[in-house]
Amino acid sequence: MPVRILMVCLGNICRSPLAEGILQSKLPREHFIVDSAGTGNWHVGKQPDSRSIAIAKSKGLDITHQRGRHFNVADFDRYDHIYVMDSSNYSDVLQLAPNAPAKNKVNMILDELFPNENVDVPDPYYGLENGFSNVYNMLDEACTLIATKLLQ
Ligand code: 4NP
Repeated sequence: MPVRILMVCLGNICRSPLAEGILQSKLPREHFIVDSAGTGNWHVGKQPDSRSIAIAKSKGLDITHQRGRHFNVADFDRYDHIYVMDSSNYSDVLQLAPNAPAKNKVNMILDELFPNENVDVPDPYYGLENGFSNVYNMLDEACTLIATKLLQ
């Protein structure tokens, strides 16, 4: 059985699509399935934001096939690990968790780099273009650590 990892943000068009693409690129597809979802439903069925597509492309990753989807309670059964981008996503996801094992699957992604500091991946949606580059770099570092752990 492959290990399944879900990346979660608010819109599922900026941060979590990048996290999905980055982590999947660091793991063999036959053993690891990486997906993403949003706690909000505004962008269901949409491609990632063009700025996320562009920064990914500049790093050699194609995320254009991804489509937005809404996080739901069944995701706690479908996934082994759920990484959220910020503390607001964390509380939104935990609120839906049916039990302790489900809660224990959820972690802030930057806890990988800064354990127990609750550092957010800043939402780049309303910001400047370089916000996407900063987000990419943070996620790349975090995903390197996640991939190393998962491959042990
Ligand atoms: P994301 O960014 O959570 O990183 O995908 C956002 C995208 C869209 C919206 C908010 C955040 N929105 O309000 O539509």
